[in-house]
Amino acid sequence: MKHSLSLSAAIVAIAIAAPAAAKPAAGPAGATSPQAAAAAMDAASTRAAQTVAKMTVDEKTVLTHGIMPLPFVENGPPIPAEAVPGAGYVPGIPRLAIPALTESDASLGVAYVGGLRKDGATGLPSGVAQAASWNPEVLRSGGAMIGSEARAKGFNVLLAGGTNLMRDPRNGRTFEYLSEDPLLSGMLVGAAISGIQSNHIISTIKHYALNGQETARQFVDSRISESAARESDLLAFQIGIEQGQPGSVMCSYNQINGHHGCDNDWTLNQVLKRDWRWKGFVMSDWGALTGLDNALHGLDQQSGAQLDKAVWLGEPLKDAAAKDPAYAARRDDMNRRVLTAIYATGLDRNPVAPGGKIDFAKNGDVAEEAAKQGIVLLRNTDGALPLAKSAKRIAVIGGYADGGVLSGGGSSQVQGEGGPVASIPVVSDSPFAALMAQNFQRSSPMKAIKAQAPNAVVTFRDGRYIAEAVEQAKQADVAIVFATQWATEGLDQPDLSLPNGQDALIAAVAAANPHTIVVLETGGPVMMPWLDKTAAVIEAWFPGARGGPAIASVLFGETNPGGHLPITFPASLADLPRPHLDGSDTLEPNFMGGPPTPDAKLSADYTVEGSDVGYRWNARTGHKALFPFGFGLSYTSFASSGLAVAGTAASLTVKNTGQRAGAAVAQVYLVSRGGKASQRLVGFRRVELAPGASQKLSMAIDPRLLADWTNDGWSMPAGSYSFASGSDAEHLGPVVTVRMPGKTWKD
Ligand code: BGC
Repeated sequence: MKHSLSLSAAIVAIAIAAPAAAKPAAGPAGATSPQAAAAAMDAASTRAAQTVAKMTVDEKTVLTHGIMPLPFVENGPPIPAEAVPGAGYVPGIPRLAIPALTESDASLGVAYVGGLRKDGATGLPSGVAQAASWNPEVLRSGGAMIGSEARAKGFNVLLAGGTNLMRDPRNGRTFEYLSEDPLLSGMLVGAAISGIQSNHIISTIKHYALNGQETARQFVDSRISESAARESDLLAFQIGIEQGQPGSVMCSYNQINGHHGCDNDWTLNQVLKRDWRWKGFVMSDWGALTGLDNALHGLDQQSGAQLDKAVWLGEPLKDAAAKDPAYAARRDDMNRRVLTAIYATGLDRNPVAPGGKIDFAKNGDVAEEAAKQGIVLLRNTDGALPLAKSAKRIAVIGGYADGGVLSGGGSSQVQGEGGPVASIPVVSDSPFAALMAQNFQRSSPMKAIKAQAPNAVVTFRDGRYIAEAVEQAKQADVAIVFATQWATEGLDQPDLSLPNGQDALIAAVAAANPHTIVVLETGGPVMMPWLDKTAAVIEAWFPGARGGPAIASVLFGETNPGGHLPITFPASLADLPRPHLDGSDTLEPNFMGGPPTPDAKLSADYTVEGSDVGYRWNARTGHKALFPFGFGLSYTSFASSGLAVAGTAASLTVKNTGQRAGAAVAQVYLVSRGGKASQRLVGFRRVELAPGASQKLSMAIDPRLLADWTNDGWSMPAGSYSFASGSDAEHLGPVVTVRMPGKTWKD
């Protein structure tokens, strides 16, 4: 492997060194590396300028705004026949061979839009579940799969790539995002985007930026210093953009230091377009505009314009451009940027064809593999897992496990053919009610457990009556409790308990049967007051279209779990930077999140932790997690040794010291600089090892992870840098210290 000090090359090296299965990233137009993808964007930008020069004044406000082509959106214009029901539609310009943009939500599969399309799609596990694989190839394969289904349904823009760092485990969209760490999130989202765009369609990365909670999401003001933002959330986006070269960035609803995400000169014009030199277009989140001047502050396209107060980037933009050269220049640049994304991905040369065939069996395999790689074994006492196939009686309890697996709500909701197996509404008086239901995807864990243990008597009780569940547990050799914590876009969790009395259910079942296994299907971290009473716990997240078989495969040991937590499970809410979730007690839950009064204000104070998100906050404060970032057990054991760091190249050897084949996730952390404690993940690799096998792994360290953002650039102080490898952020091996020269550089 070649090591290089150049910034983007350094980070690429980690991607190239990814597991044997990893393919080179494919970006726009099938480009085979992030650099080639960036070059494709540059070339496309030149061609785009030539097209803009041919546009009439009227044509110049066609690509700058779109609609939400859904019948339940009130006061909308007529929906053109070519618009596929989905999140967005922007007409094309046939005279210039510019295709219409047909947009679907697609982080976890092609979205279901409340059942308006009955065509079904393959649901991947949630974002956090995929990220728990720590394997960019899982994300790339998932993205490629979603992109192929999107093409078959007639979509050519996918609203994917959720990259916001998990600053609060109660955030209702934690399930859609990837991790609390900028390196992990950036590398994984880049892989997902390159997979999507390998289908000659555009992917977004979203929600730019610092969209850290759903409460008051349309007006909450995320307060943070520039250096902390550059070293955390912005760095995750920066790495993701370098790796994946998305055609579009979706700006967020919230404010960032007093300016809305889609009206933010700093994040859009200065950081994204000037410093990162990114050439694609910024689309708004739906209903996120504040006015025409958003165009001057970096917004290029108004999405779902019926949700805004006016179609500002239509006639008002045309009028402003006729009078004001600043608006005229911006309008041309907006067109150039939209066309750059179209040309770079080859969307114009590879038209999508609605009605295409989908191989659901093959795509289901992709979802199942992602679920298996992302399931995290949290506890396993006395070899309680894997379960013996010879078990005689198994009591399955709770979580609708007889029918399916839980999924997250909101715009990312995916359903297979036939829709959900069970759907529990949570709101009824909103046009978006169908997006806000607890939906269980059709993949029964119970059925899969029966298939694994065909000779066992497998019983099911739904868990509503604790005494009944206890009775079943007493009669069984094993009790498996499925516990769910639903999460959705638009609502945060008030705390991290399991709702509807499930904590009491688990405690009672575990007291009745010492062989109690808990399977968690949660959007993110939960508290586990019953933990010590259980024999084993697995975190299966929202496991997607084939969640049932994936869970059963882990329970019975066909799959050796290798997932690791991409987010800290805190021991207590008191340990969080904000023990109280801003606005959660004063504001009524509201999916679209508009201010209750025009002058309503709310701040989320991210200056508390700054860039020390998650495990870094715990390292700074000395808090110990319930389960730390990076944690995950296996049915085998691993040892890592020989960590060496030379310049920005790290290497170490990982050995499978147990009896089964399994996947290790090597993690290398910076632990101090100049003798001052400072923890940061600087490298990771997932590697499959046979029993007794060992492998030397090399990782290039991105210098930005060693640096501070000061004076408009990165700065690495000269001095000592100490590193350690570990099985998670709290369990680290011997420290290796090297001296590094000081240096400063610009993005
Ligand atoms: C969400 C976006 C989504 C858009 C279109 C918004 O409410 O925040 O993630 O892409 O809707 O459905």
